[in-house]
Amino acid sequence: MTDISETARTLTTPPKGVFAADESPKSADKRLASYGIKTGIEMRYKERDMFLSTPGIEAYLSGVILHEETLNQTCALETVPCPTLLLSSGILPGIKVDQGTEPMSESPKELITKGLLGLSKRLHDYKATHNTAFTKWRAVITIEGNVLPSATAIVENAKRLAMYARCAQEAGMVPIVEPEVLYTGTHSIFRSKEVITEVLQTVMRALDEHGVDKTATIVKSSMTMSGKDSRRVDTPEEVAAHTLEAFLHAVPQDIPGIIFLSGGQDDDQATDNLRAIAKLAKEKNVPWNLTFSYSRALQDDALKAWGGKDENVPAAREAFLARLTKVSAAAVGT
Ligand code: 13P
Repeated sequence: MTDISETARTLTTPPKGVFAADESPKSADKRLASYGIKTGIEMRYKERDMFLSTPGIEAYLSGVILHEETLNQTCALETVPCPTLLLSSGILPGIKVDQGTEPMSESPKELITKGLLGLSKRLHDYKATHNTAFTKWRAVITIEGNVLPSATAIVENAKRLAMYARCAQEAGMVPIVEPEVLYTGTHSIFRSKEVITEVLQTVMRALDEHGVDKTATIVKSSMTMSGKDSRRVDTPEEVAAHTLEAFLHAVPQDIPGIIFLSGGQDDDQATDNLRAIAKLAKEKNVPWNLTFSYSRALQDDALKAWGGKDENVPAAREAFLARLTKVSAAAVGT
């Protein structure tokens, strides 16, 4: 087993999980604004510091995915670079390396992810300067009835995920490949399962075609769920059964771990669904590690408690730890 295979296992072993703190400045500002918090670089710095300098998070987190803006930020009252702070408490720093999405020219309702240009150099620089251990690339797949996603969108996004993964491994880092199948839409859980299965199968083929070492690759996935606008709320048991069915069809056992995004589920829903998946995964004795890699579902309680005010930081950190405790217990099915 290579060193990076070992890192991929470490990152995905529950009860710990990976905190996705890698929103672009634009998305981070949008998030802050939605909580009535002032936006801009200073508030984004405060927000990151609040989360990343919370004492005790190392009991729940194996890694944190950072945005480039945060890689260069200092934490803990401006005393230490954020990646150094994380490493000092045994948490691996990772870096999101895609550069967002744009509409596909062949199918303008669908998105393709940018960022391959100059990627190798960026990866080597991140590793050399910040000691990053892993990376993330997010592709976005839209479901619209039986029409979308198009085969072109699935194949092109899978190809880019594989090219990125190859570059990340060549730079000595673990790639997280994230084809996020969006929850938005009116589709059924069955359609969600069908699309997630097809997308993951296509990504796995592309990884093989591009000579990616699957034993050193982490898959980040949505759970299978009825679309948000379908007005159907699936039970955790339904989510678990369909999600694992999709993975068992599509993901070979040489992938060490699959981590989940929360995708706009509320925090309790994301926690309950993860618990049901972990329970069923134990019963089925699935071959991969499974754990969380949430952004929104880990931050919501804390952002509400913080409200952008310095005096609320201790309460926000308490809320963050309380949510981490619940999600990490759910990752082992309790
Ligand atoms: P959410 O948990 O908010 O979906 O974010 C996870 C993520 O990394 C999306 O790319």
